[in-house]
Amino acid sequence: MKVINLGARHSVLNTYMSELRDVDYQRNRTLFRRNLARIGQVMAYELSRTLDYSEHPVTTPLGTKPTALIDDRIVVGTVLRAGLAFHEGFMQVFDKADSAFVAAYREEGSVEDMKIHLEYMAAPRLTGSTLLLCDPMLATGGSLELAYKAFLRAGEPAKVHLCVVLAAPEGIEALQKVFPGDDVTLWTADIDDHLNERAYIVPGLGDAGDLCFGEKL
Ligand code: PRP
Ligand code: URA
Repeated sequence: MKVINLGARHSVLNTYMSELRDVDYQRNRTLFRRNLARIGQVMAYELSRTLDYSEHPVTTPLGTKPTALIDDRIVVGTVLRAGLAFHEGFMQVFDKADSAFVAAYREEGSVEDMKIHLEYMAAPRLTGSTLLLCDPMLATGGSLELAYKAFLRAGEPAKVHLCVVLAAPEGIEALQKVFPGDDVTLWTADIDDHLNERAYIVPGLGDAGDLCFGEKL
C-alpha cells in the first residue's frame, strides 16, 4: 500500500485540520461537518490527477476542443456515520460517481481487542470500478478492513483508494498487511502520534461521528 500524506506539504488543508481539532471550533457542528467535506473536496481533486483519462471532442459554439476526460468508473464507498460529511466533499468533485455505503461502529475496546459491528451494506456493481473507500478516521484499521471486505460482495474493483482525514501509525501498519502490494493507495490529510488505551488517535480530534451528529448511546 502506498501512503500519500497531503499534510506533508503546507496548504489550506492545515486550516481545515486545525479547526477540526480545536475544541472551541468543535462546538460548531456545522463547521465540523463542513471542514470534513472541504478536505474531501481537496483530496478528491488531488486523487483525480492519478486517474486514467482519454481524449473526447467537446463541441463549443465556435469549434471543437479535444478534452481529456476521466475513464474510471468511480464509486465513492463510505463508512457511516462519520463518513457522511466526507462523502459529500467527494461527491461535489466526482458528481457523476455512484455511491456505496456500509455502516460500522466500534464497541468500547482496546487496540488489540476492538469489536467492530457492521450492520448495513448497499453498493452498486463494483467489478472493474475505481473504489474510493472513505472514512475520516483510521485508528486500528478494523473498520476500513471490514468495510472493504463487505464491499467485495458487490464485486472486485479494478483500483482501490483508501481515503481518510486522519491516520494513526497503528492503523497504517494494520492496513499494510491487508494491502501488501503497491496497487492500493492510502490518502490522508495528516498522520498523528499514536493510539491511546481506548484506541483513540492522539492528539487526534476526538470522536468524529459524535462531533458530526451527537453522542451515540
Ligand atoms: C469511527 C470512524 C471509523 C472508525 C475508525 O467510527 O468513523 O469508522 O471509528 O476506527 P478503527 O480504525 O479503529 O476501526 P465509530 O466507530 O466512532 O462510529 P461512528 O462513525 O458511528 O461514530
Ligand atoms: N474513531 C474516532 O472517531 N476517533 C478516533 O480517534 C478513533 C476512532
